[in-house]
Order: sequence, then structure tokens, then C-alpha cells
Amino acid sequence: QAKFLISAPDIAHLDEYLPGDVGVEIAFAGRSNAGKSSALNALTEQKNLARTSKTPGRTQLINVFALDDDRRLVDLPGYGFAKVPLAMKKKWQAALGEYLQKRRCLSGVVVLMDIRHPLKDLDMQMIEWAVASEIPVLALLTKSDKLAQSAKMKAVNKVRKELADFGDWVKVEPFSSTKGTGKPKVLGILNQWCHP
Ligand code: GTP
Ligand code: MG
Repeated sequence: QAKFLISAPDIAHLDEYLPGDVGVEIAFAGRSNAGKSSALNALTEQKNLARTSKTPGRTQLINVFALDDDRRLVDLPGYGFAKVPLAMKKKWQAALGEYLQKRRCLSGVVVLMDIRHPLKDLDMQMIEWAVASEIPVLALLTKSDKLAQSAKMKAVNKVRKELADFGDWVKVEPFSSTKGTGKPKVLGILNQWCHP
């Protein structure tokens, strides 16, 4: 029963809109077009909660959805969008890093990556920042419906191997917003983060 709460223009303003840094926040991060907004809709079972788009870079505001009075899901704008000027990309990266380091109510970060193109530099950076701040990460390999079962498991195992050094801080799961693959597992993990 997630409800739209607020849109913030940037991370620096998030604290203005949601003062106090209290409660539990779970952020959805990932490259542009990775499927963040689609995953949010699939997980909350609301088709139009977050706006999705074929055009990368659609979500440019930080959209916050409330699960209840204390718990929130945060749809972050995608990083690595080719058409954004480098200076803006750098600014956004810095803001993300600060958010991960300073936001104390942040209880988990879902890093979404297209299963066909996982673990780009910026994805790795996000995961490293989160774990450095002792925030657990769910690496979600999205659009898993695009691969056959064997290729899917191969991709998942490869990413698991590459992230093995992070131990229990990072979990890796395949996910499909269209088919619902991985939904029960993901909901289980989010639920744990929501009830520490
Ligand atoms: P930005 O807001 O631009 O950063 O993108 P986003 O990460 O929120 O991606 P969004 O959810 O808008 O999805 C991007 C495109 O991928 C859309 O065309 C979606 O329909 C498609 N897509 C998302 N998830 C899936 C999936 O699980 N399977 C398939 N086949 N397509 C998907
Ligand atoms: Mg989006």
C-alpha cells in the first residue's frame, strides 16, 4: 500500500522535505534505464506508482514513497546517462555518495542492473560506498526475462562470484518486473530491512 509522498529536486534538499532523518528508508539506485521504477511498481503491485519510460533519464527527481508512517522507498534518478553533461554526472555522483554516507535512516540499497550488462564502474562504486557505510545491498539483476534460464543462472553466478568479497553485505538476485521473477525473495529481503 505504498503511497507517493514527495519529490525532491536533489539529495541536498531531501532533508528539507523529510526532516529529521528518522524512520527506515530503502533506496533504489542504478544506471538509467536499469528498471528501477518498473521494479518499484512490480514490488508494490501498483502499475503507475513510479513513472517508467523507454527513454533513459526519465526519473530526474528523487521520488519518495511511503509504506507507512515510518518506512519509505526512494526512487533515485539513474546514473551514467550518456546525454547528461559530465559536470552534472559528477555532481550527481558526489551527491549520491554523500547520501549513502550521511543518511542514517538508510537501511538498505537496492542496486539495479540490467542482467545483460551488470557491474559497471558506477554500480561497483555504489556498492562499495554502501558497504563502507555498513548499509546492506541487494544487487538486483533486472530484465531477467530477456535471458534463457541457463544464461540467467550463469549471469547470476558470475556476479555473485565477483561480489563474494563483500560477504553477507551484498546479496544478488535475478528479477523481472514483467514476469514477477524474484519477487518473493526480494520482498523477503526488503521486509527484513524494514524491520531491523
Ligand atoms: P530511469 O528513471 O531513466 O533511470 O530508468 P529506470 O531505471 O527507472 O527504468 P524504467 O523502470 O523506467 O525501465 C526502463 C525500460 O526498461 C522500460 O522500457 C521498461 O519497460 C523496461 N523494463 C524494466 N524492467 C523490465 C523487465 O523486468 N523486463 C523487461 N523486458 N523490460 C523491463
Ligand atoms: Mg526511473
